[in-house]
Amino acid sequence: MSSVAGTDADTLREGPRHGVTIVGSANMDIVFAVKRIPQPGETLLADSAARYPGGKGLNQAIAAARAGASTAFIGAIGDDDNGRALGATMHEAAIDTRLLRTAEPGNETGQAFIVVDGSGENTIIVASGANATVAGLTADDRAQLGRAAVVLMQLELPLDTVLAAASVAHSAGAIVMLNAAPATAIGAHLLEQLDVLIVNEHEARIIGASDDVAAASVSLANSVDRLIVTLGSKGSVLYERGSEVARITAPKVDALDTTGAGDTFCGAFAAAIADGRGFADAATFASVAAALSVQVLGAVPSVPQRAAIDAAAEAWGIWLGARA
Ligand code: RIB
Repeated sequence: MSSVAGTDADTLREGPRHGVTIVGSANMDIVFAVKRIPQPGETLLADSAARYPGGKGLNQAIAAARAGASTAFIGAIGDDDNGRALGATMHEAAIDTRLLRTAEPGNETGQAFIVVDGSGENTIIVASGANATVAGLTADDRAQLGRAAVVLMQLELPLDTVLAAASVAHSAGAIVMLNAAPATAIGAHLLEQLDVLIVNEHEARIIGASDDVAAASVSLANSVDRLIVTLGSKGSVLYERGSEVARITAPKVDALDTTGAGDTFCGAFAAAIADGRGFADAATFASVAAALSVQVLGAVPSVPQRAAIDAAAEAWGIWLGARA
């Protein structure tokens, strides 16, 4: 586990490192808005259908960049129109794409098929495509991981690549974060490289190996330095070295589409930590960003800019704390 300081008053940031580096996926999302999620064997007519940039890695990179962090992306797209559109989205957000690979022909850009119901809940199926080709790290990847203040990963790339990136970043002294989504069994070795693990209730149950989210959370909290369990509209719970240290209330909003809300939380949290905020203050900032994101359809289109997060926090009477 990491040895960085960790009370709310402390910054998690160390040394002259800079910005947020995302190691993750990029997908084109095909989003169908329906009144309710269809049953097996059922055909439904959608209210609308649209394509938006997405992928947990790309969403989190956009969230970090829009929250004000200098952001770099390590991942892959295909040599196709979707890939070019995702590249343009990163470019518009001023994300450093020098380590974005274009996969060999035959590996299309990742795609996600998303159904969003009338209450904003979703189901998602991902075709990994080019994301699955990110096998191993280049010398330039390793150098970037060594420069970053915060390295943030998810589980839509091959697990070996995530583990390699976590190990390099941890050894180099970066703050290493994993959003364990989509949930899969992750070994003790990966957990040991992490400064912060972020999961939702569903992921906590799977990775914490218990149907009871509280019990699963406690089990996970004993395996990592810091744990955040996001609970959607019920906010989030923060743990440090096995103990609960804070509960963050989510602002009350009407949800149109929750797709990418967790990603917005993670990216904004990473940006806030890179900016020198403490653990709980960064999570509060991230929860305001996520609350804004659920009010807009589509993953990337819903990610708020820093000015909007600050304005919403002020309007909602939420103190975002001071930067270290
Ligand atoms: O977390 C939401 C994301 O999950 C979507 O953008 C989709 O691409 C999948 O990766």
